[in-house]
Amino acid sequence: MLRISIFTAILISLGSLVRADDALPALDKETAGKISYRADVWPIMKRHCWGCHSGGDAKGGLSVDTVADMLKGGDGGAMFEVGKPDESALLEMITGDEPEMPQKQPPLSAAKIQILRQWIFAGAKDDSTPGDVGRAVHIPETYRFAPAVTSVAFSSDGSVLAAACRSEVVLIDLVGEQPPRRLPTDSDLLSHVEFSSDGKLLAAIGGSPAHYGEVRFFNPVDGTVVSSRRVSHDTLFRGGFAPDNNAIAVGGADGAAHVIPVDPKGEVRSFDLHSDWVMDVAYTGDGMMLVTGGRDKSTKVCSVETGELLRSVDGSTEWICSVAADDQFVIGAGKARIPISYELKIALSGVEVSGAGNGARPISKRAQYAKNFETQSGEILDIATSGDRKLVAIAGAYGDIRVYKIGDRQRTALIGNTPNPVYGVALNADGTRLALGSKSGQVQVYELPEGKLIKSLVPVPMAPPAESVTAQ
Ligand code: HEC
Repeated sequence: MLRISIFTAILISLGSLVRADDALPALDKETAGKISYRADVWPIMKRHCWGCHSGGDAKGGLSVDTVADMLKGGDGGAMFEVGKPDESALLEMITGDEPEMPQKQPPLSAAKIQILRQWIFAGAKDDSTPGDVGRAVHIPETYRFAPAVTSVAFSSDGSVLAAACRSEVVLIDLVGEQPPRRLPTDSDLLSHVEFSSDGKLLAAIGGSPAHYGEVRFFNPVDGTVVSSRRVSHDTLFRGGFAPDNNAIAVGGADGAAHVIPVDPKGEVRSFDLHSDWVMDVAYTGDGMMLVTGGRDKSTKVCSVETGELLRSVDGSTEWICSVAADDQFVIGAGKARIPISYELKIALSGVEVSGAGNGARPISKRAQYAKNFETQSGEILDIATSGDRKLVAIAGAYGDIRVYKIGDRQRTALIGNTPNPVYGVALNADGTRLALGSKSGQVQVYELPEGKLIKSLVPVPMAPPAESVTAQ
């Protein structure tokens, strides 16, 4: 057999795969040998391919969970042969004028393609350890870009603020001088953090899109994990603790509201109420009902005991992104800019409905029980009540935050010039402080009602702006 050098082989394959004017950079053994599957290759596969190429429903029969899976390949055969990156199906899929993969997403950067090529070239070594294969979430020691803060929450005594920063929760000391404490989770992206009203638990909710939802309960005093579990096959969104603090109810990308007990042996109950993502869930003050709002543009009320739909209280023209409740009122708000308050007793009394099941609607009483708040100046992304459920704060993609009394919908505070957009908002127990988390990665705390800024910080540790590392 004719032996050709690797170099020649590359030249040949280059000719067949890419046009001469965008030739791939050279491969060299020394750099290639330093590439780690675990640290360099897996993060690329996870971010760009894993969503479609994993688990029972892996597209094209191809799973990229492990190196062995990649070598096995999919319906069309192996993804690559060790040592020969440029003759591989992998390279063919991710290069060219309009790369086929990742499907429906921007192509991989040249730097990432080079990492994959070098790794295969150097032997496609697997340096993962059992335990971290596939699912492990990477939490950097320091960040080069501050991750968006998706949710914030005050502890019941107001001494600590929790912020959800990508895969970790950061606890910020508001009274002493303690440095921020970092609590890691297994969620790719956290969507919600909340303290129980007795101060004993901190819940972190999130998951990995198209793979799993995760709920993790921490002891906020010492940071230990009280219990943790996977729920559903997709990410979980916002929710709220039951008034007795024994469970948390959260929305899911699977269209269900999930009631998840703190006790890891307790049964998870899932109520299929919506035809699209359930973005937020809240318990009514008495703990008997759940309010849910979702991407199907509806706000609904169901029984906690049976999961039975009591009423689709309203339909909106836009997504409902957040809900809240006290003893008398339910509030739904979202992209339509107008938060609406529904008086529960009237909404649920003597219901005359047309339609059945999820489509059940009141015949004519909406005007009696639905009352608009003031229109906000943009899309609403999060609303939060004070611990005593007297006030509600409303925030979103528009640069100010407003606070209202739930009882009469009168505004009590307006904070202008906030970061924009705000992803998460929180009030303390008596509504004298407000916190926000922004897309830009900032957390701010204000005093109410005057709206005085008392703290502003990026909660995660940032890398000094030195040399830039690999492509992320
Ligand atoms: C949004 C979903 C999606 C993403 C993300 C995605 N793929 Fe795919 N992939 C598919 C589908 C669907 C198929 C099968 C049908 C086809 O070939 O178009 C496929 C097929 C493949 C195949 C052929 C499998 C076989 O043996 O037939 C390879 C190789 C592949 N993808 C690699 C990748 C790589 C590498 C990435 C990440 C850089 C990626 N894909 C990201 C959806 C996706």
